[in-house]
Amino acid sequence: MIRVPHYVASIQPYVPGKPVEELERELGIKDSVKLASNENPLGPSPKAVAALSGNTLGTLNRYPDGGNYYLRQALAKKLDVSEDSLIFGNGSNELLDIAVRTFMEPGEDAVMAWPSFVVYPMAVQAVGCNGIKVPLTEDFRHDLGAMADAITDKTRMVFIANPNNPTGTINTKAEFDSFMSRVPKDIIVVVDEAYFEYATDESYADSMGHLRQGRNLLILRTFSKAYGLAGLRIGYGITLTSIASEMNKIREPFNTSSPAQVAALAALEDDEHIENSVRVNAAGKEYLYAELAKLEGMGIKYVPTHANFIFMLPGVDAGALNGALLKRGVIIRPMGEKAVRVTIGLEQENKAFIKALKEAMDEVR
Ligand SMILES: Cc1ncc(COP(=O)(O)O)c(C=O)c1O
Repeated sequence: MIRVPHYVASIQPYVPGKPVEELERELGIKDSVKLASNENPLGPSPKAVAALSGNTLGTLNRYPDGGNYYLRQALAKKLDVSEDSLIFGNGSNELLDIAVRTFMEPGEDAVMAWPSFVVYPMAVQAVGCNGIKVPLTEDFRHDLGAMADAITDKTRMVFIANPNNPTGTINTKAEFDSFMSRVPKDIIVVVDEAYFEYATDESYADSMGHLRQGRNLLILRTFSKAYGLAGLRIGYGITLTSIASEMNKIREPFNTSSPAQVAALAALEDDEHIENSVRVNAAGKEYLYAELAKLEGMGIKYVPTHANFIFMLPGVDAGALNGALLKRGVIIRPMGEKAVRVTIGLEQENKAFIKALKEAMDEVR
């Protein structure tokens, strides 16, 4: 018998997908199209790849720089913030964990939207706290008014994914400003901007503006998405120096690897890759919107996105649709029984998806 705290025992674990090669072998397919994890279909930043082939591999016997010296300097300059207001993580995901472990005590609450990023309730539950889930609005956006209403004396943190995963929706500057005017000053608001680079709409909330006014904000961004470095695991938080220094106390000393640091530094200077990534994503989005509009008669609805994926309500069982797509070599992410999330891919991948979608819908309807 092992003893596990009840709050850990009741966590629904994150189920990883199988490696693509394995899935292809099992299904007897090849050249599958993976549109399941919101990765950058263009690949990693070429500058990052070039930087990695330098001296990094020859020094893998050494521990990485625990202070992220060069990346910190470059990022602070780029964002016009002080170096000690940055904190780096093994993906921005690790920073979510560090944040709850730093600031929450068992029994306290964190308010979050639902559905949103699945890791928030898991991170909160892992420290014996409660995720208070506030349903999205009818148009699948964070209901920031209802989230402010949900704050009580037990609330220590609020999580806001902007853009939201899985719906791709954003909250506007006006909505966020009004929310911040209602949040008690001692609560930490985590604004998860993993898809920041794709969110080009001018109404997009200005979290940095509130941080510069000294509010308790932890803004999370990542090199996993537009920068194309998901496999290296590196993300960062922009926050008050007081928040960063508390979080640093429990951060593992060497939590970001040396290849990740080298690649992230080079990627940060690769504006061309970001521009290409955003452009290819925008073109893919327009193509998918046009094709999905043609399929409206089949009962498929979608939510307009501000990220690199589209949330769809196919009007059929999402699991069955997923199975039918898999058989045709297209890997997407079912979201419960009614919805699927599809990453926007390269032109040929989007075409393959639409072709498979038509066939799969005919099969399962
Ligand atoms: C909203 C959101 N936040 C955070 C992450 C974690 O990203 P990473 O740990 O790769 O930086 C993801 C990844 O899918 C995400 O969708």
